[in-house]
Amino acid sequence: MKNIILSGVRPSGRPHIGNYFGAMRQFVEMQNEHKSADKFFMVADMHTLDANKGEAMRQASLDIILDYLAIGIDPKNSTLFIQSAVPAHSELAMIFSYLMTVPYLMRGHLYKDAEAKGKEVLAGTFLYPVLMAADILLYGTTHVPVGIDNKQHVEIARDVVRKFNHEYGEYFVEPKEILIADAQLVPGIDGKKMSKSYGNTIPLFSTREEIQKLVMSIVTDSGSDVPTHVYNIHKLIKTEAELAPLYELHKGKYKALKEALIDDLDAFIKPLRERREKLAKNMKVILKVVEKGNKQANKVALKRIKEIKKLCGLSA
Ligand code: TRP
Repeated sequence: MKNIILSGVRPSGRPHIGNYFGAMRQFVEMQNEHKSADKFFMVADMHTLDANKGEAMRQASLDIILDYLAIGIDPKNSTLFIQSAVPAHSELAMIFSYLMTVPYLMRGHLYKDAEAKGKEVLAGTFLYPVLMAADILLYGTTHVPVGIDNKQHVEIARDVVRKFNHEYGEYFVEPKEILIADAQLVPGIDGKKMSKSYGNTIPLFSTREEIQKLVMSIVTDSGSDVPTHVYNIHKLIKTEAELAPLYELHKGKYKALKEALIDDLDAFIKPLRERREKLAKNMKVILKVVEKGNKQANKVALKRIKEIKKLCGLSA
């Protein structure tokens, strides 16, 4: 059986190194390792209607395409597309919404978190896992590289497969999530999990000045030889063996250690940042990439949604 890899990113703002080391890094690794697999990398704009609107949404979607290209996704090798350009995602989500019950979906962590904050939960947020199952299953995906926060969503997609196949006959295969082994360990500048909502991120394409400012503001615990939060971020880009002599040399000297982290982060980010800047100068090429990707995704999706609708007895 052919491997099919799919993942997506929401166009909700600048990606940070937590997104990169928690998930996106794997997109590139898998692209390069699985030469013969079909690969799809999507901009999940339908999943972001709560956070972005109009021209800002359009711009943010193109920004994700730029991010994908800058980290090394190759449009010759992978299909880069925008979810909303492929109407079959929404159709399939509607079909799936008739398979999954409300009590089942109430166990979804996005719903539970929103509910716990006392928010009036959008129906779209409630159905987020259903749309995501449609994203994944529409292409016959076998492997989904994601960050740890999306593990449950892939589990839900597997439940959708079982439900659908039970009701309509074997059609879908169960997708597997591919997690980075230490993905849960991406800490922010305050030591908590790096997340946009905590305001503790280091943007993936940040300038040296931004890196400097952010690293200098890392919270340090006084009294110990090793500033834990500095070290934990440092560990993302250097091995513990590489770091050991440095942290020994500058024992207890937080400023010197922060300066070393600034240099290492900048050395890591600089080529990505420069590549992105270069790509952004030629938006015509970027738009071509999107156009080609959307077309390719639609071709696959259209064939599959017709088969699915036929199984359901819907008019295709
Ligand atoms: N939920 C993902 C995120 O948190 C985005 C996403 C939407 C996705 N559809 C997907 C990821 C399908 C993998 C597969 O950013």
